[in-house]
Amino acid sequence: MVDLSIDLGFLKLKNPVITASGTFGYGREFIPFLNLEELGAITIKGLYYNPRKGNPPPRISETPCGMLNSIGLQGIGVKRFSEEILPQLRNLKVPIIVNVCGEDDEEYVKVVNFLSSKKGISCFELNISCPNVKKNGKCPALSPEWTYNIVKSVKQNTHIPIITKLSPNVTDIVEIALSAQEAGTDGISLINTILGMAVDIETRKPRLANIFGGLSGPAIKPVALRMVYQVVKAVKIPVIGVGGIYTGEDALEFLIVGAKAIQVGTANLVDPCACSRIIKEIRDYCLKKRITKLENIIGSLVIE
Ligand SMILES: Cc1cc2nc3c(=O)[nH]c(=O)nc-3n(C[C@H](O)[C@H](O)[C@H](O)COP(=O)(O)O)c2cc1C
Repeated sequence: MVDLSIDLGFLKLKNPVITASGTFGYGREFIPFLNLEELGAITIKGLYYNPRKGNPPPRISETPCGMLNSIGLQGIGVKRFSEEILPQLRNLKVPIIVNVCGEDDEEYVKVVNFLSSKKGISCFELNISCPNVKKNGKCPALSPEWTYNIVKSVKQNTHIPIITKLSPNVTDIVEIALSAQEAGTDGISLINTILGMAVDIETRKPRLANIFGGLSGPAIKPVALRMVYQVVKAVKIPVIGVGGIYTGEDALEFLIVGAKAIQVGTANLVDPCACSRIIKEIRDYCLKKRITKLENIIGSLVIE
C-alpha cells in the first residue's frame, strides 16, 4: 500500500493531483471520463462576478509541444455558479477550489464576499493574472505591491483559505511570492501561462484575434519547474506546481523540487483521463521504489 495523501495545512488531499483552472470546465463535463472523487481536488474555471463572453475567436492556436490560448476568461459568473454548479459539486467527496478573477481590485473582494457564504468551497485560488481595466490592462501579478494589496484585501474578507496563483511573466518570481506570503496567502500556485504569439505566414495575420495568448503544455515545464524550485526555497507556505505536467514522471519532478501538490492543465484537453493516469503513474513509481508515504519525497532533490 502507498499513502498518497498530502496535508497542505489548510487543506487535506487524498493525493497531490489537482485539476488546473480553465482546463477542466466546472468539473461535471469530465464525469464521463473519470471518477471525480479519485482526484486530489478540482479547480474551477476562473469566475468574475458577472458572466463574461471572453475574447473573440480565433482564440486557440497549437504550437509544437503546447498551445496558445486567448480565451479571455469566459465564464458564467458567481450567481449561476452557486445556483447551478455548486449544489452538484458539494455532494462529491473531493475538495473544490474556486479560481477568482477581477477586472479591478474591488471585484476580487466582491467575488469572494459573495461565495464565502456558500457551502462546498474548500479554497479560493486568486488568479492575479487578469487584465485590469482601470490600469491599462496590466495585471496585479506583475507587481509585488499590487499582489500584496489584493491578497491582503481578499484575506480580510473571507474565512476560506486562499491560494495565490502567480504569473511567470515577471523578472523576479521570488519577490512576488514573498509579497503574497507577507499579505497572508495560505498557499501559492505557479505558473500561469507564458505570454506568446504566433503568425500565419499565408495571411500574415496573428493566429489569435487577440494577437497575444498564453502558452501552456509540455513546452513550459522547465520554466515552471525552475520557478517552483526558486519559490519553494524562499517561502514557508505550501507551493503547488503547475505547467506542462502530462505524466506521473512530470508530477514527481515538481514534488521532488518541493511542490506539495501539482495541477494538471493542458493535458486534460488532450487526454480527458490524464489526471487518473497520472495518479496511477505516481502510485506505480512509489511501489517500484518501495516508497510507502508520498509526502517523504517532497523536497528530496539531490544537489551534489
Ligand atoms: C484553455 C485554458 C484556459 C485557462 N483558464 C484559466 C483560468 O480561468 N484561470 C487561471 O488561473 N488559469 C487558467 N489557465 C492556466 C492554467 O490553469 C495553467 O496555469 C497553465 O495552463 C499551465 O499549466 P499546463 O501547462 O498544465 O496547462 C488556463 C489555461 C488554458 C490552456
